[in-house]
Amino acid sequence: MRRAGVVAIALLVAIGAVSGAVRTYVILNHDAQFLLRIQKTIYGSFTRDTTFVVLWTRELVVIEERFAKHDRIMLVHAAAGGAFLLLALLQFSSRLRLRYRELHRWLGRVLAFLAIASGLAGLFFGVVIPFAGAGEVTSTGFFGALFVFAIVRAVIAIRAGRIEVHREWMIRAYAVALGISTIRIVGSLLQTFTPLSIRELIGVMFWLGWGLTLAAAEAWVRMTRAPTPRA
Ligand code: HEM
Repeated sequence: MRRAGVVAIALLVAIGAVSGAVRTYVILNHDAQFLLRIQKTIYGSFTRDTTFVVLWTRELVVIEERFAKHDRIMLVHAAAGGAFLLLALLQFSSRLRLRYRELHRWLGRVLAFLAIASGLAGLFFGVVIPFAGAGEVTSTGFFGALFVFAIVRAVIAIRAGRIEVHREWMIRAYAVALGISTIRIVGSLLQTFTPLSIRELIGVMFWLGWGLTLAAAEAWVRMTRAPTPRA
């Protein structure tokens, strides 16, 4: 079970980090066509119905235009988010933590900054200029706020010397970041098995992807919580 968990997390980190890197490349090289070509090919594998490929591609063009209009904010979001997903993994290694305590502290400060910058930029896209209406606003608002809150709560806890509380909130924050990869998997499945547009799917895949990942993290937190000593 532990091995399955490690494989699942590695897969989610890879999906998130690659999506952050690809988006960063696209913005820095002003090459949205590169991404549209890849996505069109992927869509072709979801369905043989070309009407859907045309519909999804049309929606993607609108999404791309939104991102291009606010490319600096998207750059902060994707680059900082991708870096957070990759580097925060190191923070969970107890061997590294014990051997290089100073590194854990400094990297922790950098990661808290990256997470808050990425989270606030994500809130801008999902809450201020949403593409898909209420489902996107509510899911992004909830999980984005939780992401920022969890980081702040974890930092406050460690400054007060409460290591267990710090650990739990960092796991929750990391789960929200990993959730963006679950969203992509859930989204691909929904696109394959339902006749819905991206606009109709976004709210469902955001709630499901983030919800499932956070539920798994919460179960892990509770299973591994140190027993409180009896009074
Ligand atoms: C920390 C890891 C994260 C990474 C690596 C990441 C990556 C990305 C990328 C690359 C995109 C552009 C879409 C694409 O290229 O496929 C994106 C869009 C978006 N992200 Fe994130 N993200 C992360 C976390 C979050 C969080 C915590 C939120 C919650 C506020 C969020 C909300 C959004 C929203 C709302 C969009 C735009 C969706 C739309 O309206 O089209 N992301 N993200």
